[in-house]
Amino acid sequence: MSRTLFTNIGLLVTNNPKEAARAGGTDSPTGEIRDAAMIVDNGVVAWVGKAADAETGGGFDIDAVVNVHGNTLIPGFVDSHSHLVFAGDRSAEFAARMEGTPYAAGGIRSTVAATRAASEESLREHVAALVKEMHSQGTTTIEIKSGYGLDVATEERLVRLASEVTEEVTFLGAHVVPAEFADSPDDYVELVTGEMLAACAPHSKWIDVFCEKGAFTVEETRRILTAGIDAGLQTRVHASQLGPGEGVALAVELGAASVDHCTYLTEEDIAALAGSSTVATLLPGVEFSTKQPYPSGRALIDAGVTVALSSDCNPGSSFTSSMPFCIAVAVREMGMSPAEALWASTAGGAQALRRNDVGRLSVGMRADIAEINAPSYIHLAYRPGVPLIGRVWKDGELIA
Ligand code: NIG
Ligand code: FE
Repeated sequence: MSRTLFTNIGLLVTNNPKEAARAGGTDSPTGEIRDAAMIVDNGVVAWVGKAADAETGGGFDIDAVVNVHGNTLIPGFVDSHSHLVFAGDRSAEFAARMEGTPYAAGGIRSTVAATRAASEESLREHVAALVKEMHSQGTTTIEIKSGYGLDVATEERLVRLASEVTEEVTFLGAHVVPAEFADSPDDYVELVTGEMLAACAPHSKWIDVFCEKGAFTVEETRRILTAGIDAGLQTRVHASQLGPGEGVALAVELGAASVDHCTYLTEEDIAALAGSSTVATLLPGVEFSTKQPYPSGRALIDAGVTVALSSDCNPGSSFTSSMPFCIAVAVREMGMSPAEALWASTAGGAQALRRNDVGRLSVGMRADIAEINAPSYIHLAYRPGVPLIGRVWKDGELIA
């Protein structure tokens, strides 16, 4: 590996206000430096500053130079919520929703049937294609959940396949109760917290539960998350997607890293989140694709809640892999400024995964970088649907 100078950066987003301000940039949360340069040493950011200071400020021998041609560099997106391991197609369900059929979590079962029937190799190829799709849109860290197996062997297969492409693997055996346990949901909870957890925990970092009417109750959620904690996993929760509930309060109580969806929050939920270390992860693709109301990112940020944005890429409620799309929708529909949406998609996602080595471009961080072929990141929302992401680097290596 070598030392690379990135120069002619029209705008560099560091997400490190102190370091940016010291280098002549802004001390806003996005820590922006205009006319910037950055030095990457063995996959890690070694120096950031003004291009004019690169030679003196860097003081490094440089092996290679990357000319950014006045474009914008941002930290690679941290997509902290996805369900990439699945088979089958549910586009007809989407079309029906656009004509008025409501979203129902029960649709998950049709993906479960297709996923159980798919070969391991075809699942592996499909995940690889989706990961490639994400990379080419600027995403460099991806969380992937299981949850379309719902039997021991298939759930184990899904977390194992996910672990081949990311370290952020989440066991979501408690996605819904599968059809064969419809009359005995307690037995399914028993399976999830017993044999299934034992098979999946070695491949996973996280445990998640869909805490919602029609999925798992708050008591079941507590039992499943607690079993996960005992097995060495960290917690995250799907809650308040289809209506208000107690999932957000439980996530805060258990110190979950993130509670995701948050479509129907109460004032109490917002107050609880504001006083906690739990990130509220908003998933604009879901409201877009299910025609549910968009939650207010504005209300959360104003209350002091840390907000992340993620794709929730899955075949049912949100089949987008594009963080630029999520940013555009969050800016247009959720009251977030372009800077807030960008921060939520990078540093916010990193916080939702309790990672302190990604989501920022400052000294010591991984050189996970996305180039935007535009003079500023505002263009991500200003020019929705336009493929503005240029080159993408992970650990300093070009991946797209
Ligand atoms: O995050 N909420 C539960 N799970 C997914 C939807 C899965 C599906 O519809 O297949 C979600 O929205
Ligand atoms: Fe999800």
